[in-house]
Amino acid sequence: MFGKRGGTADIRSPAPAMQPAPHAPAPAPAAHVPSPPTAPTETGRTPFPSDGLGAPLVAAPTPERRQAAVNMPAVDSRRSEAYYTTKGTIFGALIEAIDLAQLARLDAESAREEIRDIVNEIIAIKNIVMSISEQEELLDDICNDVLGFGPLEPLLARDDIADIMVNGSGTVYIEVKGKIQRTGIRFRDNQQLLNICQRIVSQVGRRVDEASPICDARLPDGSRVNAIVPPLSIDGPALTIRKFKKDKLTLDQLVKFGSITEQGAEILRVLGRCRVNTLVSGGTGSGKTTLLNCLTQFIDADERIITCEDAAELQLQQPHVVRLETRPPNLEGEGQVTMRELVRNCLRMRPERIIVGEVRGPEAFDLLQAMNTGHDGSMGTLHANNPREALSRLESMITMGGFSLPSKTIREMIVASIDVVVQAARLRDGSRRITHITEVMGLEGEVIITQDLFLYEMVGEDADGNILGRHRSTGIGRPRFWDRARYYGEEKRLAAALDAAEEAAQSMRG
Ligand SMILES: Nc1ncnc2c1ncn2[C@@H]1O[C@H](COP(=O)(O)OP(=O)(O)O)[C@@H](O)[C@H]1O
Ligand SMILES: [Mg+2]
Repeated sequence: MFGKRGGTADIRSPAPAMQPAPHAPAPAPAAHVPSPPTAPTETGRTPFPSDGLGAPLVAAPTPERRQAAVNMPAVDSRRSEAYYTTKGTIFGALIEAIDLAQLARLDAESAREEIRDIVNEIIAIKNIVMSISEQEELLDDICNDVLGFGPLEPLLARDDIADIMVNGSGTVYIEVKGKIQRTGIRFRDNQQLLNICQRIVSQVGRRVDEASPICDARLPDGSRVNAIVPPLSIDGPALTIRKFKKDKLTLDQLVKFGSITEQGAEILRVLGRCRVNTLVSGGTGSGKTTLLNCLTQFIDADERIITCEDAAELQLQQPHVVRLETRPPNLEGEGQVTMRELVRNCLRMRPERIIVGEVRGPEAFDLLQAMNTGHDGSMGTLHANNPREALSRLESMITMGGFSLPSKTIREMIVASIDVVVQAARLRDGSRRITHITEVMGLEGEVIITQDLFLYEMVGEDADGNILGRHRSTGIGRPRFWDRARYYGEEKRLAAALDAAEEAAQSMRG
């Protein structure tokens, strides 16, 4: 739990640093705070204030975090140094006064009450003059520090944030709508940030400190967390959070966002339904997992599906699903279960399809084997910038996995297993597009031959820096999975989509 801070005064001693009324925080200004020099966002959203919790906090709380969000100040409070001084004093006295071990045993509501009582007492004893609203705000702030994830709470409460990136106590970036922007959130100091990192990772039974400075963990809501702390990260702990989105995007939404056209989406539906072995490729945060999740929506309800992930993110709608998750080693370095072990175990579970969240190592071999041995329609994602690179990454994963197979044999395996590569990309304007639907055709000599069915082409940029482009079909009338589509009674749908894509090739995407 929270460590004791140095230099905290006894609860009953007068607070030397405390200035009563004049330096107490001013009431939160109701109207707009002058904007700090933060880069404006594409949406024209008011940037964050340089200090304080930020206005849009209450905008879109997730249901389970609504409680925390409602307790946030609804307006910007540009917090002064005096606020932090006051808070520091009260906080120090609170930590002295409270039994943290006992607090940990209380439920959140009782713990809050307990803290409220003590804070009120401290305010009275130390003769701090504050309005009720100031006091409430301070209380929330302190409760977030003691019980939750401190300054991160308001960011965690927002559903529109994809990633939170903390680079030491003074710098917090977020990604909203594909754009990275700096926020005004800050931590009191690196020690507070480290404490929060520790609290997060201790929830999954791990530890992060000088002796083991790298750690992966998850938040209770499923968000993925990586923490790397000094001495490895030089300017204070670096914390990266990939927010878990409860409501995953659907293919229809991707069409609405212009990530793909309706015809392209239709091709993806056919791929998902007809048990085409599919690799989803893309860079970090390009939308691979989202796309994989979309593809799984068209799997028939009677199929037995097994998913393997590092952190369960996929949300399959089918009833017959077994979800598996890898496990990192514990503090003693034991008990690790790798992706490869999971995928291999899958094969003994009579799966009809295997879905691998992220293929990064030797499990590539087992996934290909599975695809090749009757588990048609298996899928996985992989980190690569285009379909060709995805295939060569797959090959090198197998080579590096210690399988002493000639490269030709590996390529034969790849072409026999992978039918289609779907490429996702995050473009420089922050938009996410599906840029390729590419078929793996076969081997010519030692070279893997691919054929694009569907492409996104950039044609320029508008005045606001938004990339202009269009999706177009390449005019392939009969993809290799045509017979498969016919077998599943989907060939009309496929033909219609391919024809319409051909016709729509000219329509520009705004
Ligand atoms: N086509 C899209 N349009 C808008 N946002 C998207 C799109 N695809 C994904 N996202 C969002 O981008 C973030 C990262 O997506 P994710 O699928 O987890 O990426 P990856 O698995 O490639 O790292 C998520 O917040 C997700 O909701
Ligand atoms: Mg992912």
